[in-house]
Amino acid sequence: GVPGLVDRFARTATDLRVSLTDKCNLRCTYCMPAEGLPSLPRDQALSADEIVRLVGIAVHDLGVRQVRFTGGEPLLRKDLVEIVSRCAALEPRPEISLTTNAIGLKERATALAEAGLDRVNVSLDSLHAQTFATLTRRPFLQRVLDGVDAAAAAGLGPIKINAVLLPGVNDHEAPNLVAWALEHGHELRFIEQMPLDADHTWSRELMVTAADVRALLAPRFDLAVAREPRDGAPAERFTAVGRGEEATLSGTIGIIASVTEPFCDDCRRTRMTAEGSIRSCLFSHDETNLRDLLRAGGSDLELADRWRGAMWAKPKGHGIDDGSFVQPERSMSAIGG
Ligand code: GTP
Ligand code: 5AD
Ligand code: SF4
Repeated sequence: GVPGLVDRFARTATDLRVSLTDKCNLRCTYCMPAEGLPSLPRDQALSADEIVRLVGIAVHDLGVRQVRFTGGEPLLRKDLVEIVSRCAALEPRPEISLTTNAIGLKERATALAEAGLDRVNVSLDSLHAQTFATLTRRPFLQRVLDGVDAAAAAGLGPIKINAVLLPGVNDHEAPNLVAWALEHGHELRFIEQMPLDADHTWSRELMVTAADVRALLAPRFDLAVAREPRDGAPAERFTAVGRGEEATLSGTIGIIASVTEPFCDDCRRTRMTAEGSIRSCLFSHDETNLRDLLRAGGSDLELADRWRGAMWAKPKGHGIDDGSFVQPERSMSAIGG
């Protein structure tokens, strides 16, 4: 076969994360400022045709096997169902997933499943309307819960629920989030807050660590590290079993410890921004623009070569916990997580 997306440290990227838009309908405090961010001019964002062409190159020529659509909020793309169905028609067919805040998912879950979407991960940090509104600066908890239910009913499960805990805001909800997820058959993952917010509010001293999460859950749940191989996944998975009266509650949860237990050595991801630039790492400081080459009539071979070059330069790690870290200019909403 053709050489895939290999880097200097012998990692091979087989997972592609495509940000479909930098716009969002929430304003999570750990991601966006209250007033929002200037969004990409329309003509600079990739069209559905351009996205499908680049995903096709990744799948045909670069060994990518999984494609995840992210944002901003990917459901804000009117052509999302079309993009999914055209990517599902590629050969070899990639696994296709979506990371979303679930607002508007209720209306489109069935169409997305029929188009070929395999599964969804939903961001949900609180089950209390008031806390949800404080954290996201929008009063939409019920729409999110409806979106999750619709996705499960449409066969887009098992659904992973992503929760970021902020000290003094929602960290006390950790056990309740787990209980709710186990009751509904979803896989809850706690994500350590990363320094990727536009407001630069992140602090190493204040963030809730993976060790904190385990301590918060201990009074109500017994955790045992899951047996199956991790396979480069960001989440370390645990079997959780309720204690005492909650013994009937059991299932899998995950902790994504990007800061305190980094997984960069086994990273298998390549990222594309909404304007068609490749980021070799979530924390990269440089990007490789494919859009202009594509629009200038570049061939599949030329585009694949430029993509390979971008990944060859992938940094070894982010260095957040060793003092060498410098926050990238883009916030999470413009990278897609
Ligand atoms: P699964 O295939 O379902 O396991 O997806 P995922 O966990 O890779 O994707 P998701 O979009 O749900 O991301 C969950 C969290 O993991 C987000 O906060 C991402 O930013 C984080 N994450 C994903 N990939 C990376 C990565 O390469 N590096 C770091 N540091 N964090 C990542
Ligand atoms: N740190 C950690 N996770 C974040 N997310 C957004 N911003 C941050 C951050 N600063 C999460 C969202 C979503 C996923 C894609 O990334 O909650 O679940
Ligand atoms: Fe929107 Fe996701 Fe950022 Fe929240 S974390 S503001 S849902 S892009």
